[in-house]
Amino acid sequence: MPRPSQRLTAMLAAAALVLPTAVLAADKEPPPRVANGLAQTPPMGWNSWNKFACNIDEATVRRVADAMAGNGMKDAGYQYVVIDDCWHGPRDAGGFITYDAKRFPNGIKALADYVHAKGLKFGIYSDAGRKTCGGRPGSQGHEYQDAKTYASWGVDYLKYDWCETGTRNAEEAYTLMADALRETGRDIVFSMCEWGTAKPWLWAANVGNLWRTTGDITDKWDGKHDYSLGVMRIVDLNEPLYPFAGPGHWNDPDMLEVGNGGLTTTEYRSHFSLWALMAAPLIAGNDVANMDQDTRDILLNKEVIAVNQDRLGAQGRRVRDDGDLEVWSKPLADGSRAVILFNRGPEAKSIAVDWTELGYPATLKARVRDLWAHKDLGKQAGRFVATAPSHGVVMVRVTP
Ligand code: GLA
Repeated sequence: MPRPSQRLTAMLAAAALVLPTAVLAADKEPPPRVANGLAQTPPMGWNSWNKFACNIDEATVRRVADAMAGNGMKDAGYQYVVIDDCWHGPRDAGGFITYDAKRFPNGIKALADYVHAKGLKFGIYSDAGRKTCGGRPGSQGHEYQDAKTYASWGVDYLKYDWCETGTRNAEEAYTLMADALRETGRDIVFSMCEWGTAKPWLWAANVGNLWRTTGDITDKWDGKHDYSLGVMRIVDLNEPLYPFAGPGHWNDPDMLEVGNGGLTTTEYRSHFSLWALMAAPLIAGNDVANMDQDTRDILLNKEVIAVNQDRLGAQGRRVRDDGDLEVWSKPLADGSRAVILFNRGPEAKSIAVDWTELGYPATLKARVRDLWAHKDLGKQAGRFVATAPSHGVVMVRVTP
């Protein structure tokens, strides 16, 4: 039996062995990564790529900002004006990125100031590799330097692409840029564009505010076209990821093609409805300074936008798949459901949804409002039935 003093010595020795290691281990633990707090609802805005690709310049961006401020888009919630690829000049002697002075004669800072003066926010594009997809200088090795430059220009949103990244690890590369943006002290929404290759939905909730889930969208209804995908292909890839979206971190099935001419008005309405219901970022990709009335009516449908911007932030999903006929539902903060009856087939068809499929009791009498006809359809008992055109939707809000 050891004497008390011996016991004390033994205890102290044991503590000396254990404690420093425990403290060291705690010291080594990186601080938990916290989200940047931005994009509590899916980002809304405009991006140059789908319509203008590399053919983008200062005059076009100003024209777009003017249009958005005056045509109802800003009032409807579209906020970010984002220049995609091809704005860049070379790096200067100090390694700082410059802009293409032919296309942007007044520079990016002046353009950001112009956009801000319209009450809008300003976004830009770079790439985690050595070059952007359009062959301009990427940010690899210049992450902190570029983030600082963007902040000094007044950038509010960065889309960060994944071309020319070789064997780079996506989580490491995107976290590095997220840290660099954070370090600037400026609020910059971080839009990750690595096409879902490294499953960012599994690790990026506190790294980016949105992450692409698929390859590039193209202005076609369905199918694969080189490396781009039609709207239906993208819908089917993005839908199963609904558990991973929420306030501050969204699945991004790519920017809108509404108004670019490759789909019918009915199809564009479906595209927009499904994006809204999937809590996707609503980034217009058309020439918003020259829109026809149909395009306007789609992009400015405030009832559909309200579904997208609902503060609960749930991504809706397909609750029934009968082949060509589908039912989609998104829970909303007030206990309502946004519901889409979707007809992929070649002829108009009637589609029914039972309240039980929405998680409501079969006996419920619920108010139904048509979000495209902007019409109350009264109280419906147990179910709702409507006819959806070929490639079209009926979109309603069901309120208990
Ligand atoms: C990639 C992206 C697109 C666009 C282009 C620009 O393809 O996925 O959204 O940014 O690069 O070159």
